[in-house]
Amino acid sequence: MSRTGIIGAMELEVEQLIAELENDKIIKKAGMDFHEGLLNGASVIIVRCGIGKVNAALCVQILADIFHVTHVINTGVAGSLNAELDIGDILISKDALHHDMDVTIFGYQPGEVPQMGFREFKADESLISLAEAACRKANPDVSVVLGRVVSGDQFISSKDMKEHLISAFQGDCAEMEGASIAHGAYLNGIPFVIIRAISDKADDSAEMDYPTFEKAAAKHSAALVREMVREI
Ligand code: ADE
Repeated sequence: MSRTGIIGAMELEVEQLIAELENDKIIKKAGMDFHEGLLNGASVIIVRCGIGKVNAALCVQILADIFHVTHVINTGVAGSLNAELDIGDILISKDALHHDMDVTIFGYQPGEVPQMGFREFKADESLISLAEAACRKANPDVSVVLGRVVSGDQFISSKDMKEHLISAFQGDCAEMEGASIAHGAYLNGIPFVIIRAISDKADDSAEMDYPTFEKAAAKHSAALVREMVREI
């Protein structure tokens, strides 16, 4: 039977889903509340991991070791790096990488974690298909793009950094947890997908747009996850 770990970095990214959980049982670990229960009839653990890559990595390991999850979904918001992705639109991960990993001095590609033999963590094909189908159903008016998530411990709010993330990594959206969740899921052999709704354009307008649009954007990705889990 499947058991899906659903991770959001912030309260607003998971609060709507937690409110809908049946038989909600809370287990505390590493300062995080793991909500175990049934979402739309599916067995899930929903957790707010906190912001950044360390929190995200710890969270995945706990989901693997303590809760024995069979799948991982990361939901939340992101800054757009792709002109086709406007505020409110959704990105489903094809893959994810760490944009702040740099061991290029020893011949590795920008973003490549040494000794792994590859740079991009690939999302699970069947979770990608389920996410696409669920998005069409839950958010029929929202555009969906399949693309690359680039993650780092940095909120992206300048044109220069945005251009760097596009030219060096061909990123489609920037956020602060996805690659760590992908990395942790890969090391534990757990299929994953990242679903991010766009809250800002990761440029000089991000400071204004992010607080204005984060709530509506988070609602879009939560609606998709609710629809998707029962098919896993
Ligand atoms: N999450 C939402 N918008 C973001 C941005 N511009 N940079 C990093 N993380 C984000």
